[in-house]
Amino acid sequence: MKNRILIVLQLIASNFAWAHQGDHGALRHWEIASPDPDRIVLTWTGDPARSQAVTWRTDRSVAVAFAEIALADPSSRFDQNAERIRAKTEVLKIGQHDQNEKLTTHFHSVVFENLLPNTLYAYRVGDGKARWSEWIQFRTASGEAEPVEFLYFGDAQNAVLSHWSRIMRAAFQKAPQADFSIHAGDLVNRAHRDQEWAEWFKAGGWIHATVPSIVVPGNHEYDELTNEAQEKRLALQWGPQFELPQYSDLPDSLRETVYYIDYQGVRVVALNSNREVEAQAKWLDKTLGSNPHRWTVLTFHHPIFSSGDGRDNSGNREVWKPIIEKHKVDLVLQGHDHTYARGHTPVRMVDGEDEKRIESLYVNSVSGPKMYEFMEGGWNVYRPEGVVLDRKAENTQFFQVIRIDGDVVVYKAYMANGALYDAFEMRKNEDGTKTLRDWSPDLGDERLFKNSLPYNRDGM
Ligand SMILES: [Fe+2]
Repeated sequence: MKNRILIVLQLIASNFAWAHQGDHGALRHWEIASPDPDRIVLTWTGDPARSQAVTWRTDRSVAVAFAEIALADPSSRFDQNAERIRAKTEVLKIGQHDQNEKLTTHFHSVVFENLLPNTLYAYRVGDGKARWSEWIQFRTASGEAEPVEFLYFGDAQNAVLSHWSRIMRAAFQKAPQADFSIHAGDLVNRAHRDQEWAEWFKAGGWIHATVPSIVVPGNHEYDELTNEAQEKRLALQWGPQFELPQYSDLPDSLRETVYYIDYQGVRVVALNSNREVEAQAKWLDKTLGSNPHRWTVLTFHHPIFSSGDGRDNSGNREVWKPIIEKHKVDLVLQGHDHTYARGHTPVRMVDGEDEKRIESLYVNSVSGPKMYEFMEGGWNVYRPEGVVLDRKAENTQFFQVIRIDGDVVVYKAYMANGALYDAFEMRKNEDGTKTLRDWSPDLGDERLFKNSLPYNRDGM
């Protein structure tokens, strides 16, 4: 009798274990939320000299979560001075999307406020009991115009773990002190698919928790939630996992996708090129018009000057380019075309010659493995718009390290192997005019499909 009861109990236990595992379907262990924090990412909702936002994920067993922060003193028990802040917790049912398991996860976020400028802090996130992250360090901005160095990534999008992770890691090795990373849209391929976000977070790992991200949505961050849905909507995960600035004079549909961050004398403006382009125009004009800083960087997904045939975004160009020109935006960093293009709008052409006195610099880049062909004839089709193409590439994964120091921007585009492919120096003169010194002649031949390894899109 005893034995029978034991067998029955064992059967119940094994069935329970199986059912429990079965909840997670085919998910791999690092895709599954647990009581331990994962997907830790730094962003900003306000002044980077005084505040820092952090977001992380757990399973739904963690209903109340906390972050702790302390000055990153070299003494080993710096943590004894930590201040504890209760997190805001958002419940996310990822199963709303057809292709996700029917799971509920929790996203927790804290905005550290009243921080000291130019100061190294250590923070950790967790449940306030036994389930904590490691202590992770970040430095606040100085609050003054100081040298800024940042990373820029075009579309990651496909095979993010297997083929994009090397870019993120090579970028961190090249610029370990980078102040922030710009991700110019299409971070993933299928907006709501949680496994793809799991890949983005695993690929970046603790770099996402160390170097703050400035993210904009690409077309692939919008998708129908279900087969029956009529409308594409922003990735389910976007709002819960990125804490970003919000403005009352922008439509609610653009929430946390259109914003600016002022970092040590540089205004970085993020736009949403997917929708409500007109509604952003007035806000952009105002945001650029009120910029007290010497430099402006603009980032969004769909390029003003596309580098692919049949991929022109003329509607966006008509609305935004006059504003970019009016305010002489310095750098426009974009994605979407799965090629590399770097060009500039000249102040004027003399006898058909470009004087290299420039208005704005435009870059289309790709960091992931999906590759398209560059349009025939380069950017000649845009000549009436007055743009000059300086350097291009196909079939190459890139990341950029951009340094702004006083009157000078030094831009470097690196390939996945860490070799330099493109570079320029842009100098801003007293009167606000800019000159471009192109380093391209020393940087080797243009990389094209015909002179690079065979490309096969299968499996991307
Ligand atoms: Fe795209």
